[in-house]
Amino acid sequence: MENKKRLLTGLKPTGDLTLGNYIGAIMQMVKRQEEFDSYLFVADLHAITIHQPPEELRRRIKEFIALYIACGIDPKKNTIYLQSDNEFIPSISWLLECSTYYGEASRMIQFKEKSKQNANFTLGLLTYPVLMAADILYVDSDYVPVGIDQKQHVELARDIAERFNKMYGETFKLPEPLITESGVKIKDLKDPSKKMSKSEENPNGVICLLDTKEQITKKIMSATTDSEMQVKYDPENKPGISNLINICISLTNDTIQQVEEKFVGKNYGEFKKYVAELVCDRIGKIQERYEELINSKELEDILNEGAAKTKQLAKDKYEAMRQKMGLVR
Ligand code: TYM
Repeated sequence: MENKKRLLTGLKPTGDLTLGNYIGAIMQMVKRQEEFDSYLFVADLHAITIHQPPEELRRRIKEFIALYIACGIDPKKNTIYLQSDNEFIPSISWLLECSTYYGEASRMIQFKEKSKQNANFTLGLLTYPVLMAADILYVDSDYVPVGIDQKQHVELARDIAERFNKMYGETFKLPEPLITESGVKIKDLKDPSKKMSKSEENPNGVICLLDTKEQITKKIMSATTDSEMQVKYDPENKPGISNLINICISLTNDTIQQVEEKFVGKNYGEFKKYVAELVCDRIGKIQERYEELINSKELEDILNEGAAKTKQLAKDKYEAMRQKMGLVR
C-alpha cells in the first residue's frame, strides 16, 4: 500500500445510482484499484447544500455504499466511507475557508450556475468547493478522478493547498485532477443529447442500478433511436444507437465494429433486445450481491473500518494545521 499513489473520489447521494455512474465512474475505479491506494466515499455533506429529504438521504447513503461494493469495489483494496462519519473534515474545511478568497469561491462555474437556479441558495453552495478541498487534502491524494465539471474544484483545492503551504509551511500534497475520459459517457435513453444523470426528472431515459429487469427492458426497448435501420456507430447523426453501442462495448469485450457486424441486416428491435439482456444480466449480478450486503454486518464493519481509518488521518491533519496556524493553548 505504502508506495502506491493515492487516489480519492466521491459521489453525492442526490439521486439513485445509474448505469451511467456505473460505466463512467465506478467501473473506472474498479479498474484502477490494483494500481492505486484508493479512497471512495459518499459525499453526503455535499448533497445537503441543496435540500434533501432526510428519509431519502438515509436510504441512499447505505444503498450507495452497498452498490459500490456490489459493483466490484473491493473493500480490501479501497477505503470506503461516509463523509459525515468524519467530523474532522468540516473542521479542516473551516480552517481552509480562512485561506480561501470570497472572489475565488464565487467565481466557480458550478456556484454561478446553481445560484442562478434558486435565489434562496445556501451559503453551503458557495463553500462547497472548500469542503471538497478538505476531502482531497486531508488524505494527501495524488490524484482525484472526476468528470470535467469538477475539474475547476480540484484546481481550487490545489491553489488553496499551495497558499496554505506557503503561508504556514509544507502541510499538503498538491493534488491533480484525473479527468475520467477513458470511460465512455452514457447518454439519456430518451434524450441522447444529454448525459444519463441521477438527478434527471424523466425516469424513462435513466437506468438505475436498482431497477427491476422489467423496468430496464422497457426503458431500453423504448429508447429514442432514428428512422434508419442500421446499427452503426455515428454519435453525431445517430446518437441513440451510438449510445446503445457504447453500453454494449462497455459491458463486453466487443469492439464497436464487432457489435455492428453482429447486427448487419437486423432490425433495431433485435438490437435493443440484445442490449437489454446484457444490461439485465450485469445489473442482475450486481443486485444479487447488493441484496446480500444491504442489511449485513459486513457493510456495517466496512463503514466502521473506513470511518476509523479516515478519522485518524483527518485528525492528524487537523492537529498539524492547528499547530501551524497557532491555534494552540
Ligand atoms: P457528483 O455526485 O455530482 O458527481 C459524481 C462524478 O460524476 C461526474 N459528473 C460528470 N462528469 C462529466 N460530465 C458531467 N456532466 C458530469 N456530472 C457529474 C462528476 O465530475 C464526479 O466525478 N463534488 C463531487 C463530489 C465530491 C468529490 C469530492 C469528488 C465531493 N468531494 C472530492 C472528488 C473529490 C460531485 O459533484 O459529485
